[in-house]
Amino acid sequence: ASHEFCDARMGYNVVGCGGSDSSSRRILIKGGTVVNAHHQEVADVYIDDGIIADVKPNIKVGDEVTVIDTTGKFVMPGGIDPHTHLEMEFMGTDSTETIDDFFSGQAAALAGGTTMHIDFVMPVNGSLSLGFKAYVEKAKKSCMDYGFHMTITKWDDTVAREMEIMVKEKGINSFKFFLAYKGIVMINDELLLEGLKKCKSLGALAMVHAENGDAVFEGQKRMIELGITGPEGHALSRPPLLEAEATARAIRLAGFINTPLYIVHVMSIDAMEEIAKARKLGQRVVGEPVVSGLVLNDSGLWDPDFNIAAKFVMSPPIRAPGHGRALQAAVSMGVLQLVGTDHCTFNSTQKAFGIDDFRKIPNGVNGIEERMHLVWDTMVASGKISVTDYVRITSTECARIFNIYPKKGAILPGSDADIIILNPNSSFQISSNSHHSRSDTNVYEGWIGKGKVEITIVGGRIVWENNELKVNLGSGKYIKMPPFNYLFDGIEKADVSYISSLRAPVNRFKAMQ
Ligand code: URP
Ligand code: ZN
Ligand code: ZN
Ligand code: ZN
Repeated sequence: ASHEFCDARMGYNVVGCGGSDSSSRRILIKGGTVVNAHHQEVADVYIDDGIIADVKPNIKVGDEVTVIDTTGKFVMPGGIDPHTHLEMEFMGTDSTETIDDFFSGQAAALAGGTTMHIDFVMPVNGSLSLGFKAYVEKAKKSCMDYGFHMTITKWDDTVAREMEIMVKEKGINSFKFFLAYKGIVMINDELLLEGLKKCKSLGALAMVHAENGDAVFEGQKRMIELGITGPEGHALSRPPLLEAEATARAIRLAGFINTPLYIVHVMSIDAMEEIAKARKLGQRVVGEPVVSGLVLNDSGLWDPDFNIAAKFVMSPPIRAPGHGRALQAAVSMGVLQLVGTDHCTFNSTQKAFGIDDFRKIPNGVNGIEERMHLVWDTMVASGKISVTDYVRITSTECARIFNIYPKKGAILPGSDADIIILNPNSSFQISSNSHHSRSDTNVYEGWIGKGKVEITIVGGRIVWENNELKVNLGSGKYIKMPPFNYLFDGIEKADVSYISSLRAPVNRFKAMQ
């Protein structure tokens, strides 16, 4: 194992170095309420060598086993964040690489109750295999399990062939297409259609960043012409209708190809309603809101202090008051299925590249450490969703969609021992002074809320306890994700409306001849 990260930095302990430590490999979690997406009950959970060995009331064990009393607390699958950007070069040069890498980002995640994430691999010079290689290298410092999505930024035979290799050999089962970021990573409809067809044939899930990039470009020009150069120009230049247009377009094109679609970071009522409409017609569309979109509004972007306003710049933008509540309602009713973060942190020096021009502010906000607490506080503590639904939207549904359930996303015998213990009677507080991200700012600064992840267990090891992190550098494993998730089941038979609406007149025409 590489030794360059052995020093305990950031004020938390790094145990061992890619190897095992001496702490007990057998743990009994006793007397808590064990919550799965399908069921909850008071039971004990017995962990042996990183795997959940048993789940039932009154398990008896010997003295050598570490016992954790969890009476009155919730014992739940660790969170899985479907959407992160660790150590990503974005919107320009090296100097705009996201500030959290696979070590600091994951350490932050563990302190907040997330035990796995799926990161977006960026191709290197358009090459998927070089991109994959680079991310394998970046992820060597991992202290929790992770998976990869792959971003598609161009199209040719090599890309098509490499997509197949990624799915069949490398454990990637999802590809992301950007309909925004014109001139950087944006693709056109022709490429999207090729990508959708390829995804369909491979059983891979197509994901889209849904904003109309050409229109955003026009909107930005308008703002600059009006002399609006500050962070508020970011929101004004790319309103909800541009998100709705791209969402609707991607949904219709996926319907036309008849393949499942995953919309990342749904930020507006307008986009959410396009998803709702398609789902009502039976189309297999998944919508992922992110925690910033659920709990924040755009007021921060108008802060007169550039450093404060700039930290809220992400795409699609955080919307006006009202959108977040509607997105929460959509999550509670199942219109949107899981919650991510889009954790993509830049510190204030990096954000300051755009001090004279909002178009140059690197896009992205934090959230990997805060998601589990904020969703609990705003949705469970407030009575909007049940604890079982909390597990579903923060963990289980992600595991199902990316086809790794019940290894992940469940507390069942045989599942990985990635577990959190949450005390509903305690509280949490968010500040850049105490968070574990390397960023010097936090978009949730000052938030105090109900519920607290008191213990995080990852791979059968206690890594977060008494507000202390003891992460195991290099212990995180790459999780291969197989293709053909449940969204593909019977999709050919369950023909979508677009295809059948075409077929009806064709048949009639044939009958006439
Ligand atoms: O602003 C954002 N969302 N940055 C991360 C890249 C992306 O679009 O997901
Ligand atoms: Zn070492
Ligand atoms: Zn995006
Ligand atoms: Zn993203």
